[in-house]
Amino acid sequence: RRTIIIDTDPGQDDAAAIMLALSSPELDVRGITAVAGNVPLELTARNARLITEICGRPDVPVFAGADAPLRRKLVTAEYVHGKSGLDGVDLFEPSHPLQERHAVDFIIDTLRDAPEGNVTLCALGPLTNLATVVERAPGVIGRAREIVLMGGGFFEGGNVTPSAEFNIYVDPEAAAIVFGAGVPITMMPLDVTHKVLTTRARVERLRANGNRASKVMADMLDFFERFDEQKYGTDGGPLHDPTVIAWLIDPEMFSGRKCNVEIETVSELTLGATVIDWWKVTDRPENAFVVGGVDSDRFFGLFIERLGRY
Ligand code: BDR
Ligand code: CA
Repeated sequence: RRTIIIDTDPGQDDAAAIMLALSSPELDVRGITAVAGNVPLELTARNARLITEICGRPDVPVFAGADAPLRRKLVTAEYVHGKSGLDGVDLFEPSHPLQERHAVDFIIDTLRDAPEGNVTLCALGPLTNLATVVERAPGVIGRAREIVLMGGGFFEGGNVTPSAEFNIYVDPEAAAIVFGAGVPITMMPLDVTHKVLTTRARVERLRANGNRASKVMADMLDFFERFDEQKYGTDGGPLHDPTVIAWLIDPEMFSGRKCNVEIETVSELTLGATVIDWWKVTDRPENAFVVGGVDSDRFFGLFIERLGRY
């Protein structure tokens, strides 16, 4: 069983990732840490609590972290996720309380208390919280087993500028710190997530599970896919963040390779670009396993089956 912390900015696809994780016996979710991203922190923290409540998991603590990127103004994505971050379903004020401890302190304490190489950090939003852990406790981040993150893109380009993906673009300095931290990283870029499409048939199969969690998720995906569908002209939109969780459960459905990844933090034109040395044209150190391919039917088979367990 893998011990994980989910750092997230829900977001419908973040919600999908949390639901997948909390229904998977392979994973022990120690806590959920919220970060500002798709919507401001107050809403991402509320949304994380709301999702754990829908999943019937009040035992999973939720912590609030950074409310702004390290050195920049927050850029949000209401145009994708709606004003609440979880548009598409009836929202309510969750009774599941927010923990008092700061998310960064929770991550540091958990890494310190667990055996070395035990805790996997899953990052589904801008990397501000994780970069703050690196800066505040440089000796502690190395105790993590791995960081698995959704972010970046290479052949696929960007989704917020022509060259940058949202999570990296929002806090490129934080991303540069995390990629330079010396911890093993697995990266799910847009090149993978754009292959995981919420087609109408898949969303209907999910809804046909008949339980509350599956219905709520199907309604969220109906809202979420509308934006990307129009944008990309595909049947359904990409389901980005759950790829991180699926990797931990069934890595065989993915393919990729170890490469060097550097983050652009200076150029205005390409700010937040992930410069991935896929063809090994430099001798920079390999600092990430970059995933490029996925069997999307196998992914949705897992996703739909797991949400059916609620
Ligand atoms: C990423 O940005 C957010 O809008 C999604 O939740 C995902 O984490 C995709 O670029
Ligand atoms: Ca996200």
